Amino acid sequence: MKSAILRSAYDPEAFRRNGHELVDLLADYLSALESENEIPANAWTPPQDSLEFWEKELNAPTANTPVQLFGKVMARSVHLHHPRYMGHQISPPAPVAALAGFLGDFLNNGMGVYEMGVSGTPIEHIVIKTVAGELGFDDRSGGYLTSGGSLANLTALLAARSIKSTEPVWETGNGRGLALMVSEEAHYCVDRAARIMGWGAKGIIKIPVNDRFQMRTELLPQYLEKARRDDLTVLAVVGSACSTSTGAFDDLESIGQFCRDNGLWFHVDGAHGAALGLSPAYRSVVKGLNQADSVAMDFHKMLMTPSVTTALIFKDGLNSFRTFNQQAQYLFDRAEEGEWYNLAKRTFECTKLMLGLKVYAILQSHGMAFFAECVTRLCDLGKAFASLIRETPDFELAVDPACNIVCFRYKPPGWSGDPDSLNEGLRKALLMDGTYYVVQTRLKNQSWIRCTLSNPFTTETELTGLLRKIRTLAADQGISF
Ligand SMILES: Cc1ncc(COP(=O)(O)O)c(C=O)c1O
Repeated sequence: MKSAILRSAYDPEAFRRNGHELVDLLADYLSALESENEIPANAWTPPQDSLEFWEKELNAPTANTPVQLFGKVMARSVHLHHPRYMGHQISPPAPVAALAGFLGDFLNNGMGVYEMGVSGTPIEHIVIKTVAGELGFDDRSGGYLTSGGSLANLTALLAARSIKSTEPVWETGNGRGLALMVSEEAHYCVDRAARIMGWGAKGIIKIPVNDRFQMRTELLPQYLEKARRDDLTVLAVVGSACSTSTGAFDDLESIGQFCRDNGLWFHVDGAHGAALGLSPAYRSVVKGLNQADSVAMDFHKMLMTPSVTTALIFKDGLNSFRTFNQQAQYLFDRAEEGEWYNLAKRTFECTKLMLGLKVYAILQSHGMAFFAECVTRLCDLGKAFASLIRETPDFELAVDPACNIVCFRYKPPGWSGDPDSLNEGLRKALLMDGTYYVVQTRLKNQSWIRCTLSNPFTTETELTGLLRKIRTLAADQGISF
């Protein structure tokens, strides 16, 4: 006999009503974004105020239904579907992918073993094979989806350690003396991965970058020699495709050649930019990607998929089975590859969301052309914004963008104040204002405003509007051009 509380929690009719109302709310919101200019891109609230608001809402609810509650959450969130959202590297999810996420959450098939992923596992396998093929990998490639670029990079480096190290680190736990090389502009998760693996600060060798923030690959031989003189065993080089701050793409072909010449593992952190390999117009930017032993690519950064959904692709799919095991080579024969359907052998996660369903739903509804179009549009927007900034005398561009990440700052000619505090103040003012959402970064020891053009519905109107807004906010501080 079901208790009243259980009956109410699982009542199909209440679920139907709430579900319909929620979809109506979201659909109305999407169409309002198309027609109304007044909706802010972000709803900044100081942390303590926000905490108090949600404590109060739990203890003395003002929302009478779940959908009223969801409406309040929406009103107090950052709006990624807004064309004036240009902040962190995260996509406005395609509605069909969000629906797939809803279904995945409802079904909650854990996917560690095939029995719990009878649909989810083959769907994920197909997604990986399809995307790997599109990125230029051959039939030997393989991999899986995992929970974010940070985890994908760590898992790939664990595989590199297992395959390239002669020490049985999996057994001894002693990773001292092992190292990787990576550009000094790489995402911090690579540094964390080396330290998590017990390689310490010495285990991450940072290669300087050029004035376009790309790894100076001509320095790799001398850094490798020095590492050897220092008794370090370098196992891998990580190429950034692209770096986080400026969106700089390392020369993947050169790194690949260097790794092959020296017997090193070549991993590409393509969390943000491997997606360019899906765009015929921008594919050349990631030339050499398919020579990598492993590549991490986030679907939630440029590919309109809810976070976190990351592909970890291995050039030789068999290598993905060696990550968590350093036992004899004979274990990893082709028969093992037949076990593609028991994912937990290869993934960090045991229970895992049905990540593949979100990508598969996009592919089935809109095709690979959708990914190509989104990536192309976002990179085109990056270029358009850079041109606009270059033509505008009171703004300065940090570097020509290679994708959709654009760093710039306000620097009116003739004004002699401190541009760092001006731009930090302007970014803060933008956050409070809410009309646009942008972030900031430090480059060349200076503060810059940083935009990731994440929404394919952003147009030049929003780009010129942002510059105008910044000017207005500066004028409010008595600084004008
Ligand atoms: C280059 C790069 N690698 C890794 C990550 C981390 O990815 P995730 O946030 O999916 O863990 C990021 C995130 O910004 C990134 O830009």
